[in-house]
Amino acid sequence: MLIKPRTHILIIALSCSLFDAGKSSAQTNTPSLKEVFKNDFLIGTALNTQQIEEKDSGTVVLVPQQFNAVTPENVMKAAIIQPGWNDFNFKVADELVDYAAKHNMKVNAHTLIWHSQLPPFMRHMQNADSVKEYFQKHITTVASRYDGKVYSWDVVNEALNEDGTLRNSIFLQKLGEDYIVEAFRLAQKAAPHTKLYYNDYNIEQPAKRAGAIALIKKIQAAGVRIDGVGIQGHWKYNTVPMHDIEESIKAFAALGIEVMFTELDLGVLPNPWDGKTAEVSNTAEGNDKMNPYTKALPDSVAAAQAKAYADLFSLFLKYNQSISRVTFWGVADGVSWLNGWPIRGRTNYPLLFNRQYKPKTAFYSVIKTKEN
Ligand code: XIL
Repeated sequence: MLIKPRTHILIIALSCSLFDAGKSSAQTNTPSLKEVFKNDFLIGTALNTQQIEEKDSGTVVLVPQQFNAVTPENVMKAAIIQPGWNDFNFKVADELVDYAAKHNMKVNAHTLIWHSQLPPFMRHMQNADSVKEYFQKHITTVASRYDGKVYSWDVVNEALNEDGTLRNSIFLQKLGEDYIVEAFRLAQKAAPHTKLYYNDYNIEQPAKRAGAIALIKKIQAAGVRIDGVGIQGHWKYNTVPMHDIEESIKAFAALGIEVMFTELDLGVLPNPWDGKTAEVSNTAEGNDKMNPYTKALPDSVAAAQAKAYADLFSLFLKYNQSISRVTFWGVADGVSWLNGWPIRGRTNYPLLFNRQYKPKTAFYSVIKTKEN
């Protein structure tokens, strides 16, 4: 059949606008992270509610194209999933499970026991028995509901201080120092088909790493299952602690468990504390000096960030036998938590995709590590 030239033009115009509509769907020839690293480790991202519900047009195509693992950025945290004693809110968490099944992705659930984002009703609980009851009920109810539906749980998040001692959280205060072993014991019972992990920031640093190793050994010695450890990986692009990271991969792998990078982002903005913490309750006031790149990321910084990401992924590839997953904390720069923390309303550029959901220089430098 002969197609008249004008019809032809119409078809081209139509298909172009279809591509534009999905933003990232135009990137059909963009390499895929999950494909490129498929024999090395899972590639994950953290999703917010909009993205889980496929209401963020920029991520609808991009996420399934690039990632094979997803972590809920907030919706499985205690404050959201159990807002009251007898009040559980599983709506968006369930949607995430369905979303992941549809796209053949693993769900890395986050997190059962954490001192932050606790529901108001238990934050100031005085009675140790009440805390114990909450602890048992929360872990058992939530972990059993998702057993066989999520791949893993961060059972305990951020239980350590920088010197490797236990953080003085409500759980330590009211339940004593065995609470972490107990959390894993309860999770193991409630979720026998789910991998169980310990997750924290700065555990690549020697003192905190030693604390994490002691903690993991204690869980193992109690005969309780722990399958892996997550190093969060909230670093700054120009101070990534490469040596400590390598030492940590070796030390954690020697415990016979999976090693993961679970919340990776390389921020580019000045940090009031020198980038040495990811404690979410630490916030500060901003000024123009603290927010230097409101219009665009300078090429020199983009190049340095790309190099830092490449160095990291080269290291990850060297230890691909020990590393089971690398998850980015967010999909694209515009939705990163680092635009709001530790100072509100800044313009940060920590991820591999820009505000238009297009791959950045850092994306291509990561892909290239596989070609070298
Ligand atoms: C952050 C989320 O990204 C934000 O949306 C939320 O306001 C605060 O928490 N370490 C963790 C994550 O384990 O759960 C935190 O996520 C970032 C630091």
